[in-house]
Amino acid sequence: MTIYEHPLYYEVAFSFFDVKKQIDAFEAIISKFSKVKVRRFLDVACGPSLQLREIARRGYEAVGLDSAPQMLRYLSGKAKEEGLRIETVKADMCNFRLDKKTDFAFIMMGSLVVESNEKFMNHLDSVAYSLKRGGLYFIQNKAVDWTRIAGQSWTMEREGITVKTTFKIHWKDIINQTYTEEVLLEVNDNGQKARFESKEDLKFVFPEEFKALIKLNGKFDFLGWWEGTVSTWYLDRPLEKAKTPNNTNMLLLRRK
Ligand SMILES: C[S@@+](CC[C@H](N)C(=O)[O-])C[C@H]1O[C@@H](n2cnc3c(N)ncnc32)[C@H](O)[C@@H]1O
Repeated sequence: MTIYEHPLYYEVAFSFFDVKKQIDAFEAIISKFSKVKVRRFLDVACGPSLQLREIARRGYEAVGLDSAPQMLRYLSGKAKEEGLRIETVKADMCNFRLDKKTDFAFIMMGSLVVESNEKFMNHLDSVAYSLKRGGLYFIQNKAVDWTRIAGQSWTMEREGITVKTTFKIHWKDIINQTYTEEVLLEVNDNGQKARFESKEDLKFVFPEEFKALIKLNGKFDFLGWWEGTVSTWYLDRPLEKAKTPNNTNMLLLRRK
């Protein structure tokens, strides 16, 4: 997973959203759906987490969990620069237990991807253990449209650093529902050029299968899924009614 060993370049490449709008939306969703008062947030697969930085700025407790130590060091460094308090936990999102339970958990940018259904169940168990009963689990960009898994490319620039990201997905094994995801970052850092690549085999969890696994796991209520953009989600537009269900979406679970 080499792209995740370069948090600054990852951040430049993937900061195409409005973080204030996202956290405003979290607060609105909490007031509508949460059964607990929210003080402590958990970002699963947090990366450089612009979200936790905004959350900490607003006075909440912030916890970031990631398997890449480089990401966690970078996030802690950014928090220190700004005088913010953000706790970090190095762990696998399919195998963790936070004894100090959180009130709201979230996972952004399609990061909820696993190699098998068993891992997905382990992930649900891990989040369930670490979240108070009545607390929400917010999942951004669940891949729901398998007919249009292809690829995309975009370029971002910040402070003399340009990063071109190329994202490719292709089916690997139809019967076992696996696909290969490849991400390439082509960096020009003030004249210094570099390339970083990641390649991973993952399992496509189909929408109805996803809901069935949540039911089987038994620890969460499925509250719904909705259309959105990178920064905003529309609670009046459930995915079931969308003309073309999009992978830019949001779904909500609540801990039983
Ligand atoms: C697509 S990035 C998302 C980062 C950030 N949440 C965002 O929205 O920009 C995925 C993150 O998941 C982390 N990651 C990948 N596999 C993981 C795992 N099994 N457990 C925990 N973190 C993982 C990577 O290190 C990376 O920081």
